[in-house]
Amino acid sequence: MNSYSPKITSPGSIWTRTATVATALACAALLPLGNAQAQSGKIKIGLMLPYTGTYAALGNAVTNGFKLYVEESGGKLGGRDIEYFVVDDESDPAKATENTNKLVKRDQVDVLVGTVHSGVAMGMAKVARENNTLFVVPNAGADELTGPLCAPNIFRTSFSNWQSAYAMGPVVYEKRARKVVTLTWKYAAGKQMTDAFAEAFEKAGGKVVKEMTLPFPNVEFQPFLTEIAALKPDAVFVFFAGGGAAKFVKDYGAAGLRASIPLYAPGFLTDGTLEAMGDAGQGLLTTLHYADGLTNAKDQAFRAGYAKAYKAAPDVYAVQGYDAAQLLATGLSAVKGDVSKRAELVKAMEAARIDSPRGAFTLSKAHNPVQDIYLRKAEGKENKVVSVVSKALADPARGCKM
Ligand code: BEZ
Repeated sequence: MNSYSPKITSPGSIWTRTATVATALACAALLPLGNAQAQSGKIKIGLMLPYTGTYAALGNAVTNGFKLYVEESGGKLGGRDIEYFVVDDESDPAKATENTNKLVKRDQVDVLVGTVHSGVAMGMAKVARENNTLFVVPNAGADELTGPLCAPNIFRTSFSNWQSAYAMGPVVYEKRARKVVTLTWKYAAGKQMTDAFAEAFEKAGGKVVKEMTLPFPNVEFQPFLTEIAALKPDAVFVFFAGGGAAKFVKDYGAAGLRASIPLYAPGFLTDGTLEAMGDAGQGLLTTLHYADGLTNAKDQAFRAGYAKAYKAAPDVYAVQGYDAAQLLATGLSAVKGDVSKRAELVKAMEAARIDSPRGAFTLSKAHNPVQDIYLRKAEGKENKVVSVVSKALADPARGCKM
């Protein structure tokens, strides 16, 4: 895994917070604030991401990307200083409501940013909808977020699970595979990505002959590898990410399957994990909305800035965090930092054209990026761009009523 320096700013101890709140209440009693004055303090950003567990590196990369953009903007968004409130969600959906409430109800953040895991993000969306909190998703692909759960206060700067896997269907078919086995963790992201792959692959003329799953975040892959060897499919399609992805690819290689049964996946398999995979990762073909070796000016500047700040190369998660801050900056600049002007703020975010390191993108009506999907090949420490396999791909936003 990459050794990111997380740069997490703690919100301070409970005693510091209590004292600050008491002082603020005393001042408020003495000096009633007008709206302009009330909007002149810091904007509170709640970062809810995984900082432990198999997705820890992903959460740190999102955080680094977000903070990089804020630092490049002089530490401000919409002319106002930023105060971070941070919660480690541990990629645990069972704790999602409680963790989100820490930020929304206890810390009263102006904006909620998170998270990586689709199941946790759906819990966050429920709380954000109930409290009308502005919510920006910098990774989690749950189709529901820009589908049935879509809302004026929910935006995403990453991808939908459908979008990240659908593009791989025709690629695998063109590589002459006709019978494919899928394997993934059993939760929303794995289910939706393998379904989207099957939708496109079967439309092209192929057949998914077996769907295999294991609980998140288990990494006991051996029984599945034994079954794949017995089934002898033409190819295997998987969704894994973070620490589990590195372990899977190493195990797949060690089982001797790489030479006989090609492995395909959305690029989460190899982003931020190639070093940990060593030789086992080399040559893997993946599809994703970011790649190494893009030639646009924004990417070059972003990569230089990221390397200087963190002494590491960025990955897709860092890009998505950076773009979450860019999208917020667009909205906040339009209202000069006055978050009470929600309708205007949302309108500006909806109309934004984000100059992203992945290439410029706009948002769909459901608030999901409309973006190019690249085919990439793992070479050394990089996922080198091979081609654009899907131009300006939009999520179908099934079930979104906005
Ligand atoms: C998800 O749970 O949505 C997810 C996690 C890691 C990478 C990509 C998607």
